Amino acid sequence: MTLKSLIALAGIVAVACIVTTFSQSLSGFNTSQCGGTKRCINIPENCQIQGNCQYQISYAPSRDGKSMIIELFGRRDSPQMQYVAIGFSSDARMGNEPVAACIAGPNGQAQLSYSYNQEGKRNIPLGPINPSDAQLLSSAVTESSIYCQFSQAINPTTNPSLPNLQRPFQLLVARGPVQSNGQLGHHTSRQPTSFMTQMA
Ligand code: HEM
Repeated sequence: MTLKSLIALAGIVAVACIVTTFSQSLSGFNTSQCGGTKRCINIPENCQIQGNCQYQISYAPSRDGKSMIIELFGRRDSPQMQYVAIGFSSDARMGNEPVAACIAGPNGQAQLSYSYNQEGKRNIPLGPINPSDAQLLSSAVTESSIYCQFSQAINPTTNPSLPNLQRPFQLLVARGPVQSNGQLGHHTSRQPTSFMTQMA
């Protein structure tokens, strides 16, 4: 390879990095802290390098050590895709797990909403959650992404359906439309992670 083509290649890589960093900062998820202050899960694996992530999750302990700060990012293929959700499961199947969903709202903001996947592939809202157990910290919604950062208690005390984050979970991710009653609709994309995750 000649020096000229090496310089050209370096230029292309630099531009790609700048574009990726810029689009990531707009979408809210900052990958530069991954492996440092927070743990990150990229779906598909290593997608952060090519900038083609469908989902990204991160988690880090809160200052007081009582909660985990969780980030949830989902790529949006169309305006109908209005939520990205994470399920705290004991297996790779949908059913019998609590779900935290980030739901797109107006003005580039999102809402945090908890529900439960019951047997029979049904998703039932858990209703408002006490802020001591979970609360939205920040959010960002663009044409191509939905993002939420929220704190979730490690040992929740106000709702027995919420997960205890000291246990290992097989995380499930899903995204899709929201029904007219505000509840999550059948996903257009979903998958289990292939490993167990213990956040706390
Ligand atoms: C109203 C909401 C939901 C409905 C009606 C629903 C329905 C279904 C149905 C019918 C299937 C099997 C066929 C298919 O793959 O589409 C399925 C699979 C799946 N769902 Fe859901 N789902 C809902 C919400 C969720 C949520 C919130 C998650 C996780 C955060 C999730 C995770 C999964 C996963 C990982 C699979 C594939 C594994 C399996 O078949 O069990 N689902 N869902």
